[in-house]
Amino acid sequence: MKTLSQEQINEIRNSVDIVDVVSKYIPLTKKGKNYFGVCPFHEDSDPSLSVSPDKQIFSCFSCHTAGNVFNFIKEYEHVSFIEAVKMVADMAGISVNIDTKNTKTIKNNDIYKIYDIGQKFYLNNINTSYGKEAKEYLYKRKINDDLIKEFEVGLAIKNSKALSTLLEKKGFKEKDLIDSGLIVKDERGFHDFFYDRIMFPLHDINNKVIGYSGRIYTNIDAPKYINSKEHVLFRKGEFVYNYARAKNECRMKNTVIIMEGFMDVIRAHSVGVKNVVATLGTAFTKEHANIIRRLASNIIICFDGDKAGSKATMACSDILLQYNIIPKIVRLEEDLDPDEYILKYGKDRFLDKINNPISVMDFKLNYLKKNKDLTQTVDKAKYAKEVIEQLNSIDDDILREITLKKLSKETDLDVEFLKDKLTKKEVTKINKPKTVQTNKYDMAQLGLLFYMLRSADVIKMFDNRTIYFPTKEYRMLAHEISYFYKNNNYINEADFLSDLDSELVPVVGKIESLNLNENYSNNLIIDYFNAIEEKNINDECDRLTKLMNEETDLEKKAKLGQRILELVVRREKNV
Ligand code: UTP
Ligand code: MN
Repeated sequence: MKTLSQEQINEIRNSVDIVDVVSKYIPLTKKGKNYFGVCPFHEDSDPSLSVSPDKQIFSCFSCHTAGNVFNFIKEYEHVSFIEAVKMVADMAGISVNIDTKNTKTIKNNDIYKIYDIGQKFYLNNINTSYGKEAKEYLYKRKINDDLIKEFEVGLAIKNSKALSTLLEKKGFKEKDLIDSGLIVKDERGFHDFFYDRIMFPLHDINNKVIGYSGRIYTNIDAPKYINSKEHVLFRKGEFVYNYARAKNECRMKNTVIIMEGFMDVIRAHSVGVKNVVATLGTAFTKEHANIIRRLASNIIICFDGDKAGSKATMACSDILLQYNIIPKIVRLEEDLDPDEYILKYGKDRFLDKINNPISVMDFKLNYLKKNKDLTQTVDKAKYAKEVIEQLNSIDDDILREITLKKLSKETDLDVEFLKDKLTKKEVTKINKPKTVQTNKYDMAQLGLLFYMLRSADVIKMFDNRTIYFPTKEYRMLAHEISYFYKNNNYINEADFLSDLDSELVPVVGKIESLNLNENYSNNLIIDYFNAIEEKNINDECDRLTKLMNEETDLEKKAKLGQRILELVVRREKNV
């Protein structure tokens, strides 16, 4: 495998302008030296993302995501760093010969390989004579050959040794075979986990097969679907079906539709509604929300029309609302799921549904009204309380106001009275912009890092003083900067970011959002050093004091006291 040198990576980075690249994804406006846009990495409507043409970096002063052009692509496209480098090289028309499949970011290569072989095997089976009955089943369900091909539907044949024999011959490690979930081992030896099922492959966000859902297609008494068990690359609570295939369509329409089952997705796709994803019938999780919201800012929930579907719609909305996303809702009649609905009523009526979703609050009002008789005082009171409770988790003033008006009409309660019942306190939300904490010692560390990222002289001062940063992640970043300088003999934030461990990138984001003056004086740096020193002495004093208080041996106690005194004297001299 060919890897790229740091120089080549820098060259690729220098061949594009970060402003051009970012503006392919989000509109930017110039203000002063920098460009600003709405940050795609947290839910927001204010332009908190800043892109610097001078420094060739971006940073969000709200969520602190930051980095160079590669980090931007990596975050936005959900790809590995090396894939991002390749995409940027493509934009710049530079041809790079790197195998993006073989990078360290891929956790377990052999599992991908096992799935590759499995996928070829299953795909082939369905087109042989073994696949006749399965195909008939699919045709009967109006899944034609084009859809079979597009969704890569395959077949696990009846022989439950078929795939295991094939894979055993390829010399895979037993552990990987078993971990993949495709092979099981018991007293009979190796055999296939899936047999005699229609195989729907599950692709990860990079469009690699990492699991299956296998459906029965004959009248056997068995669960309708069985899914691959979880492994390193496949977690059901994080899995989003059709992500890769739907990505572009979602971004183009800035809307994503969530369904419950993958059959629904396939059907919707077949009538041209392609911005659709599904969870695998499991409960919707925060992780799902986090992945799906990257696709588009408008989210429509279109779950099954039955009671369970409406309950799941409530739960899914609540999770999205925690992210400040206000979803729209589509409810289908007669307990139908989207697949059945489209087959029964056709494309146009379905499109009409999708194009006219209802507001989440209207859905919730209807949901909460069910099984209640609003002419009864008890029910009415209960209903009002429940709606108020729901409103407390909504950040949208207008939506609150409209809903309160509706509630007031329905319950004959005064709007002002109802408004009074809303909690005034700020609701806790996930991913709310964090303001940078800046107590004196935090500020000293961040400030010092800010100037180390800009000036070789400050790095040299740091190296000479051997300053110990009290906060671990700051300490690690300082050492990374110093190390980069030692190796390259220059400091450039954008190049530095290419090399940086992704865990430390948000720290750079935090530093950038401080918006400090680009110029510094030596006195300022020395003040930072002293503050850091003072913090270290304070921490050491605290530690020794604790030891002293616990010590029973008087002589040792006195010694500890003496050391504390020495530190205090040192601290006084220092300031
Ligand atoms: P549904 O029962 O709604 O399936 O489950 P469906 O989409 O209508 O499928 P068909 O039309 O009967 O073929 C929704 C999702 O729940 C998961 C599957 O991922 C399915 O897509 N599921 C369902 C299972 O994992 N196991 C089951 O036994 C059933
Ligand atoms: Mn169905």
